[in-house]
Amino acid sequence: MKTTKGLKRMLCFLIFFSFFSFITINMAYPLSTNSRWIIDQNGQRVKLACANWPSHLQPVVAEGLSKQALDDVAEKIVSIGFNCVRLTWPLELATNETLANNVTVRQSFQSLGLNDDISGFQAKNPSMIDLPLIEAYKKVVASLGKKNVMVILDNHVTKPGWCCGYNDGNGFFGDTFFDPATWISGLTKIATTFKGISNVVGMSLRNELRGPKQNVDDWFKYMQQGAEAVHKANSNVLVILSGLSFDVDLSFVRSRPVNLTFTGKLVYELHRYSFTNTNTWSSKNPNDACGEILKSIEDNGGFNLRDCPVFLSEFEIDMRGGNVNDDRYISCVLGWAAENDVDWSIWTLSGSYYLREGVVGMSEYYGVLDSDWVNVRSESFLQRLSLIQSPLQGPGPQHKVYNLVFHPLTGLCMLQVQSISDPTKVTLGLCTESQPWSYTPDNTLTLKDKSLCLENTGPNAPVKLSTTSCSSPNLSKWETMSASKMLLAAKSTNNSLCLDVDKANNIIASNCKCVKGEDSSCDPMSQWFKIVKFSK
Ligand SMILES: *[C@@H]1O[C@H](CO)[C@@H](O)[C@H](O)[C@H]1NC(C)=O
Ligand SMILES: *[C@@H]1O[C@H](CO)[C@@H](O)[C@H](O)[C@H]1NC(C)=O
Ligand SMILES: *[C@@H]1O[C@H](CO)[C@@H](O)[C@H](O)[C@H]1NC(C)=O
Repeated sequence: MKTTKGLKRMLCFLIFFSFFSFITINMAYPLSTNSRWIIDQNGQRVKLACANWPSHLQPVVAEGLSKQALDDVAEKIVSIGFNCVRLTWPLELATNETLANNVTVRQSFQSLGLNDDISGFQAKNPSMIDLPLIEAYKKVVASLGKKNVMVILDNHVTKPGWCCGYNDGNGFFGDTFFDPATWISGLTKIATTFKGISNVVGMSLRNELRGPKQNVDDWFKYMQQGAEAVHKANSNVLVILSGLSFDVDLSFVRSRPVNLTFTGKLVYELHRYSFTNTNTWSSKNPNDACGEILKSIEDNGGFNLRDCPVFLSEFEIDMRGGNVNDDRYISCVLGWAAENDVDWSIWTLSGSYYLREGVVGMSEYYGVLDSDWVNVRSESFLQRLSLIQSPLQGPGPQHKVYNLVFHPLTGLCMLQVQSISDPTKVTLGLCTESQPWSYTPDNTLTLKDKSLCLENTGPNAPVKLSTTSCSSPNLSKWETMSASKMLLAAKSTNNSLCLDVDKANNIIASNCKCVKGEDSSCDPMSQWFKIVKFSK
């Protein structure tokens, strides 16, 4: 406390108010697009924060329903912060009448010898077990609708089964199981079936295009035909287009725009996992690797955010942890997703599968739910998603734009401690409780209309908020550095001290890690911060 005046001012600021509050809007469907944003009928931003729920494997039944009741799963989805499900379906559910209308859930399980699932399903979802597969699928959509969960219908494969192999005959137009005309009639059928179901807000036309036949000309030809067919059958849904090479490449739409007869419905989707770039993550210094991957995401589709929504419709890590590549990748990608405030969907909700690749009851360690579909596998992973589950920005004139200082490793944000004893202290806390920061053009991090500045007090010491350092700018300048741009270095120290976090989650400054060099074993992630915009 330097002066009494300063103390009084600080005390005033301690009166708690939650500046950054979640807004729960009752969405007015249908949705459409306004430049890079998805909006509702009132022009309000709607952010897709989805979980993929597979229903395209051999039984053609939404997974998990032999473990838990449908309404309970829907409730769980809401309770862990998702507002949307990307619900997969195999094309044959639309194009094979016998499969859709004349095979029940029970018969489907029977034909695969899944007797334990029959008894489980009978116990948990007795009203569904004798429904034909298409009726069971509709029930899932309806149950999600009752809970206000939006649904994106994702045509994942043609033949029911695990996806996706390079050469599995389901990858690209003209493959053994991928006849374009059949695909278009299947899309039309599903779009028509769900016409008027208001929580069905979008359709992913085809998951992860790939394989030896993939080419840009056919991509334009058939994706445009598919989009037109869906829009003609059901003009309410967003039309979501996947890229090539397992949906990591949309680079080709930069020079050749998609040509559709309708507007306001087009969304691009991109996928990214750590195994998309195993070599980069394992062989490079993590700052260099992150910088390189973010450039690749931008060049291969992220650039569309200039005028079109980009939906990161699959990303995830192994929930058991301990995978070094996953650790680097997820902090890097969460920073990107928060900074760009993109729509997204994790792969996957599913804690287990009835039958995957010949294995009965296979556990899914990329699932947010456990094998019994009861508990969350990793609470800390959910915390890391919590910031991006909220909309941060939106279309139209923004009243005022502020910053959050997001720490992807924890999912928390830097904030001033609400403590009378030490109002200079900054720590990590819930992003919803962060005060609005300003990151000024001259690189100061300030609070409270610039009367408090974040000050570096030396190596391994806590940084602090001070009223005086605002007038001695050298102490309070923080510059992004390294290829990842996620290190925030104190300018006063020739960029050798970076924001970091100690064991008690206090924000300190410590020697900047892995700024450059070849060391692939170094670990800078506790020093990764992303300055994220949000508007109010
Ligand atoms: C349609 O589905 C049924 C039931 O699974 C199957 O027996 C039949 O072979 C399928 N028809 C075609 C043409 O794939
Ligand atoms: C549907 O199933 C019933 C009995 O399970 C059978 O008699 C009928 O022929 C089937 N219809 C079609 C179109 O496959
Ligand atoms: C877009 O498609 C329409 C037909 O749907 C065609 O007349 C027009 O030439 C196309 N425009 C471009 C730029 O390819």
